[in-house]
Amino acid sequence: MSEHRTAIVTGAARGIGAAVAMRLASDGLAVAVLDLDEDSCAGTADAICNAGGTSVAVGADVSDEASVAAAVERVASELGAPTVLINNAGIVRDNLLFKMSVADWDAVLSVHLRGAFLMSRAVQRHMVTAKFGRIVNLSSTAALGSRGQVNYSAAKAGMQGLTKTLAIELGKFGITVNAIAPGFIETEMTAAGAERIGVPFADFKRDAAAQIPVARTGVPDDIAHTASFFVSEGAGYVSGQVIYVAGGPID
Ligand SMILES: NC(=O)c1ccc[n+]([C@@H]2O[C@H](COP(=O)([O-])OP(=O)(O)OC[C@H]3O[C@@H](n4cnc5c(N)ncnc54)[C@H](O)[C@@H]3O)[C@@H](O)[C@H]2O)c1
Repeated sequence: MSEHRTAIVTGAARGIGAAVAMRLASDGLAVAVLDLDEDSCAGTADAICNAGGTSVAVGADVSDEASVAAAVERVASELGAPTVLINNAGIVRDNLLFKMSVADWDAVLSVHLRGAFLMSRAVQRHMVTAKFGRIVNLSSTAALGSRGQVNYSAAKAGMQGLTKTLAIELGKFGITVNAIAPGFIETEMTAAGAERIGVPFADFKRDAAAQIPVARTGVPDDIAHTASFFVSEGAGYVSGQVIYVAGGPID
């Protein structure tokens, strides 16, 4: 990084968000590790600081407007104006349509879509002032359709529309907006999915890998590497794109 940059990574207490936060820190950015509970962020934030990086742990709910506003202001005052935002926080509440509750529909749409909207809106003014910004949104291969995940699939397709529209609106301020759509990544989210259907995680991963051209399941660092590219200074002409990180082509 040629200049001091501050990033916010949402949902960074664990999984993909934690890996992205640590990678951006090793790339030279100061990183705010944001998750629902500040204490849960300590592991990631401490790992960054112990490796010589700069980080703060921030407790916030991305689906809550006041919580987002307070978090972004805290990051700006403690780490400097945030000009990199990774909208990664997410939840799943899977069910077939006829069994899906309104609460489970609303919860998933709120965290992914409303959360990305609120975070992007709160951070953009810092990016506009700096005439530089990088927003990376976590979509999913589920955006293309996923049985038992109508809420999640709709949210992840929505992330792609959000990405393209923000790329159009914010481009003239030096801000790029892109999305990463992962396939199967080994995290607590996918481990919980295996547990829900009563399959040992090792078997779940083996069966998934059998369908994946590179013959393995993904790991959080696969996504961190792609995020690092989108965030890099040299990627300023790449905007409005969705990159599938899934070990092969996606139909
Ligand atoms: N793991 C996969 O295979 C996979 C595939 C495609 C997309 N994704 C997406 O990548 C992102 C990260 O997934 P993961 O597997 O690391 O999940 P994870 O469940 O391990 O981590 C998600 C994190 O988001 C946090 N979070 C949830 N609601 C929040 C809120 N309202 N405010 C702030 N933080 C909140 C959780 O506390 C958790 O730490 C998600 O958006 C997910 O949908 C994951």
